[in-house]
Amino acid sequence: MLGSLALRQAANPAPPSINGTRLINHIDALSEFGKNSEGGVSRLAYSDADRRGRDYVIGLMRGAQLNPTIDAAANIIGRRAGSEPSLPPILFGSHTDTVPEGGNYDGVVGSLGAIEVAQTLTENKIATRHGLEVIIFQNEEGGLIGSRAIDGELTEKELALVSRSGKTIREGIEYLGGDSKNLADVRRKRGDIAAYLELHIEQGGILDSEKIDIGIVEGIVGINWWDVTIEGFANHAGTTPMNKRQDALLAAAAFIQAVNKIVTNVPGRQVGTVGRIQALPGAPNVIPGTVVVSLELRDLDRSKISMLYGQISEEAQRIARTHQTSFRFEEINTNIPAPTDARIRKLIAASAEELGLSTKLMPSGAGHDAQDIARLAPVGMIFIPSVAGISHSPREFSRPKDIVNGTNVLLHTVLKLDQTRLS
Ligand code: GLV
Ligand code: MN
Ligand code: MN
Repeated sequence: MLGSLALRQAANPAPPSINGTRLINHIDALSEFGKNSEGGVSRLAYSDADRRGRDYVIGLMRGAQLNPTIDAAANIIGRRAGSEPSLPPILFGSHTDTVPEGGNYDGVVGSLGAIEVAQTLTENKIATRHGLEVIIFQNEEGGLIGSRAIDGELTEKELALVSRSGKTIREGIEYLGGDSKNLADVRRKRGDIAAYLELHIEQGGILDSEKIDIGIVEGIVGINWWDVTIEGFANHAGTTPMNKRQDALLAAAAFIQAVNKIVTNVPGRQVGTVGRIQALPGAPNVIPGTVVVSLELRDLDRSKISMLYGQISEEAQRIARTHQTSFRFEEINTNIPAPTDARIRKLIAASAEELGLSTKLMPSGAGHDAQDIARLAPVGMIFIPSVAGISHSPREFSRPKDIVNGTNVLLHTVLKLDQTRLS
């Protein structure tokens, strides 16, 4: 049988096209799981919608003859054998969880696009030398959890953190069918993966505004998260004079301004965000005694992130003195910046050119599981335009033609990679 598949490869080297109508139908169908009233999707990792969406995806994988399994970290992996079993597999995929009030394209395009590529290969009886693994990482949005398990970075402390679903990460892994006691089983080492490819929406507005079909990612930013706890003193809001207060929320307000100022004062593309705030006890007539805010810093250069963090924590100490409060920083998630592989970038460029598509080399300001896998294997990322650069929003949208183009580029790149020796 492999003999006839190999013949198919030799006789017809031009890859077929993916089935665009089928792919768009699958993307629309997945949007039903966690659909929200704003027209977007809230499919938080470890929620009921996440689990049901994953069941749908597992069904699609079965339809593509991918033999899906759930690994101990609750990543979904569909495998297709290669003709040279001694070669390590080529991985490609993305994630299907979303941020709260998110859209239906972030992660979904790359996940369902990857399944579509596998289905196209199967329908066209195309054999590959390497085995192929379509991988759907779990909980990308909550800190790249599934891919951190694969490269062995997921810590016990992180497993105990409570995710946005209300479940701890450990409970979430079990809920999705993983086995959190056996995470060592999913770890891979250098040499275990031939390469990893991820198709994704850009999430910024460069490709859309410059009318470019395909972004070739040169590197993915590092992302550091902290929880910052500000302690003041909760007291009566009617009887405590203005000059006798230790208002943690007022200190938090100064901190939020300071983060913005410090990050903006340095040249470069770095970004800093306070995206979550909780004031306790949370009543109109009580001066807030404790506030917890998140702090996120991103840049392609790890040392820039450290430098900004240093300035921010120093400024926090000044704010603490002014407001008679204290600041405590707790690091909760770190993803280091990762360059993509120059040889894979060339294969993506060649694939786009064959398809008559324009390309641009660009950094990724968003985080992706590819940055964790980059510790183990060469990685490449293919971007398609996000209309008006909107993402992590119900208004996130990518045009069907761009989704189909990107998926065909993924197909061509997988086949080129299969013929390439990277190590
Ligand atoms: C992932 O989507 C991130 O960049 O936060
Ligand atoms: Mn994503
Ligand atoms: Mn995202």
